[in-house]
Amino acid sequence: MPARLRKATSIADLREMALHRVPRAFFQYGDHGSYAQATLNANRHGLEALRFRQRIGIDVGTRDLATTIAGEPSSLPFAFGPIGLLGMQHGDGEILACRAAQAAGIPFCLSTMSICSIEDVAAAVEKPFWFQLYVMRDRGFVRDMIARAIAARCSALMVTMDMNMLGQRHCDVKNGLTVPPKVTLANLVDVATKPGWGLSVLRGKRKTFGNLAGRIKGMDSVTTLAQWVSTQFDPTLNWRDIEWIRGLWPGPLVIKGVLDVEDARIAATSGATSIVVSNHGGRQLDGAPSSISALPAIAEAVGSQTEVLFDGGIRSGQDVLRALALGAHACIIGRAYIYGLGAGGEAGVTRAIQILRSELDTTMALTGTTSVRSVSRSVIA
Ligand code: GLV
Repeated sequence: MPARLRKATSIADLREMALHRVPRAFFQYGDHGSYAQATLNANRHGLEALRFRQRIGIDVGTRDLATTIAGEPSSLPFAFGPIGLLGMQHGDGEILACRAAQAAGIPFCLSTMSICSIEDVAAAVEKPFWFQLYVMRDRGFVRDMIARAIAARCSALMVTMDMNMLGQRHCDVKNGLTVPPKVTLANLVDVATKPGWGLSVLRGKRKTFGNLAGRIKGMDSVTTLAQWVSTQFDPTLNWRDIEWIRGLWPGPLVIKGVLDVEDARIAATSGATSIVVSNHGGRQLDGAPSSISALPAIAEAVGSQTEVLFDGGIRSGQDVLRALALGAHACIIGRAYIYGLGAGGEAGVTRAIQILRSELDTTMALTGTTSVRSVSRSVIA
């Protein structure tokens, strides 16, 4: 691992490095939230406000960080969530992040809106990974995509339900975010100051949405993200579609984007193995409650029926323990690992995992916690 990455002692350090290495349009795409970013900020504040009980005199000589997530063994109580355009944070970003996750023994979920295709990733990594599905208007594409996920031996399917329309991210509009990147003078100047990124993306397998190119009309030409989502994503998405998907997909099914107890109850009876309590990282409904504030009631309502996963604002091992304490079985990590990817490719992602693992381990010891499988509300003051 390069010395500069070893020097990063927090996810905030990796974010700072990514800021200087990734072109602004792509860094901000990952980093920002929708509209006034009230929900993005609430996600962080909600976690930060939770204080631990400092415990002494408990034998914490052995600490067990391993668990299972969606039926899969995981060395840590978190998986890497699906991130659109990951291969624009670093060339071949999906492959590199998946390799780092698999080397660490945690699940990785590939986005429908990835740059490397599902087949590219399957050919480049050792073990099965998860696939995240967006329900497009073209149901033939959706059916095909599920068949491709089965052929690629994906071990879980995560269906995102909170993006049937795009919450506007002002930065993407202002940056004219397009895939593949549009060559403008401003972009050229930006990339000229980020030669490492330029080289990695130039050498990468693809420059556009790998799963969609050649399969969805208009996907081979430059399109803004907002235009594309508004023409392709299906606002009629409803629970009957989940029933249809359940019939096509034989493996574990994860429903992502649950923030309401009533929806959680429906999701729990939809055949889903797991649900993800999520507001899409504050990128969709601005003004929605923080994920962490929604978690306890959902865990209480459906936790005995279905596995409750959590995302939204996790930037440290302390945050992971906070979410477990409030009822999450495990967490889904997004920005914390893409900063690592932007900072230094696969080694940067590995560094992000090391940081999160070490923070979690220490926090467990100082709160008298010996296993991530038995964390309760009692670790919170
Ligand atoms: C895609 O999932 C996005 O949030 O842009």
